[in-house]
Amino acid sequence: MAPLRSRGARPLKGRITVPGDKSISHRALLLAALARGRSTIVGMNDGDDVGRTRAAIELLGARVTGGGGPKSPVEVEGCGWDGLVEPAATIDAGNSGSTARMIAGICAGGPGLAVVTGDETLRRRPMLRVVAPLRAMGASIEGRDHGDRLPLSIRGGRLAGIDHESTVASAQVKTALLLAGLGASGSTSVTEPITSRDHTERMLTAAGIAVAIDGHTVAVRGGQDPNAMGWEVPGDISSAMFLIVAACLVAGSDLTITGVGLNPTRTAGLHILEQMGADVSVEVDGGAAGEPAGTITVRHRDLHATTVMPDQIPAAIDEIPILAVAASRAEGETTFHGVGELRAKESDRIATIVDGLTALGGRAEADGDTLVVTGPVPLTGGRIDAHGDHRIAMAFAVAGLTAGEPVKVEGWSSVETSFPTFLEVLGRAQGGTR
Ligand code: S3P
Repeated sequence: MAPLRSRGARPLKGRITVPGDKSISHRALLLAALARGRSTIVGMNDGDDVGRTRAAIELLGARVTGGGGPKSPVEVEGCGWDGLVEPAATIDAGNSGSTARMIAGICAGGPGLAVVTGDETLRRRPMLRVVAPLRAMGASIEGRDHGDRLPLSIRGGRLAGIDHESTVASAQVKTALLLAGLGASGSTSVTEPITSRDHTERMLTAAGIAVAIDGHTVAVRGGQDPNAMGWEVPGDISSAMFLIVAACLVAGSDLTITGVGLNPTRTAGLHILEQMGADVSVEVDGGAAGEPAGTITVRHRDLHATTVMPDQIPAAIDEIPILAVAASRAEGETTFHGVGELRAKESDRIATIVDGLTALGGRAEADGDTLVVTGPVPLTGGRIDAHGDHRIAMAFAVAGLTAGEPVKVEGWSSVETSFPTFLEVLGRAQGGTR
């Protein structure tokens, strides 16, 4: 695929929506598979990552129909823990860390042997963070690098609940263990250093599961089946952030995004933009199944630098690349503390952010777990490599809107994983239909 050529922008105006939340879509599919009976998912994300979870639950025995467009509901005929089957083929999680890690939690308590793999980037990402606690629950898991790398071979069996203290704030780990915990004996708890996104807790509760939450600890008892139900997926705040930052940066912009998920464990990126002086207003006006949703309005305004502290990172974890682009256009030195987890994402995002901004004439440097971006530097054009990482690709497409010369983004096809219609939605905003 030819590189994307992003340059010179018209202002972003009018009202738009963004595709369904990826995290909520994965979980809706997984809970629907573990429920007995028919669930419906409206507004499911139709990117490749969620498609991988859909294919995975089909291999495990769920029947899935519908979809094929953001408006078309997906129907899942769930089989419950007892109805899961041994997958007849390898579960290929593609680029999706959420699929690989969360499905491992189900396979660990499922029947027979499951083999889980992924694409070249996913096969480089750490898996021991889920494999080690699942082994502690009694799962039999083999994998490359002592189980830290895909492919994993998981022999399902009877699991016993554990109390797991995670060294990283990871919703994927938390979700894998809570799902495994539903099929295990006794109770399973996960304690995190900082609470990561809490969709699983909210959605389990909506599906009738008793979830105990105490500070940064979440616990479930085994032997509970989620109810089959209707899920409504709000727009993905992480996708919306690319357009929000674009509107902050491009003069004359006045953009409204409706129906966006506003779960407080996901919205730190908006607060960080506010710290930078952005003109953003947020109104909760809807939501379903414990997930708040609403409307975000953003107008162009010059930004200034800020300091982002480690406790803000989990709720903005996917937004750091686009916030770094915003920081390159802001007056002063913006410091992101405690961003070490970015090295374990779809690319080493600390390296890809620093390399990308530097290639465009920006000023960015990393020191251990700290990223520092200095602005405002007039970005020049240039060529950047997304390294197969959708969020790096979109962040630098937005950088291109403010650069003097075109920015070419290699690896643009990676946006298929989360936001295949990014250019369409951006174009609509720049057409300014109201
Ligand atoms: C996700 C959790 C985060 C996030 C990812 C989606 C989820 O990963 O970066 O894009 O849906 O639970 P970690 O749990 O590894 O931090």
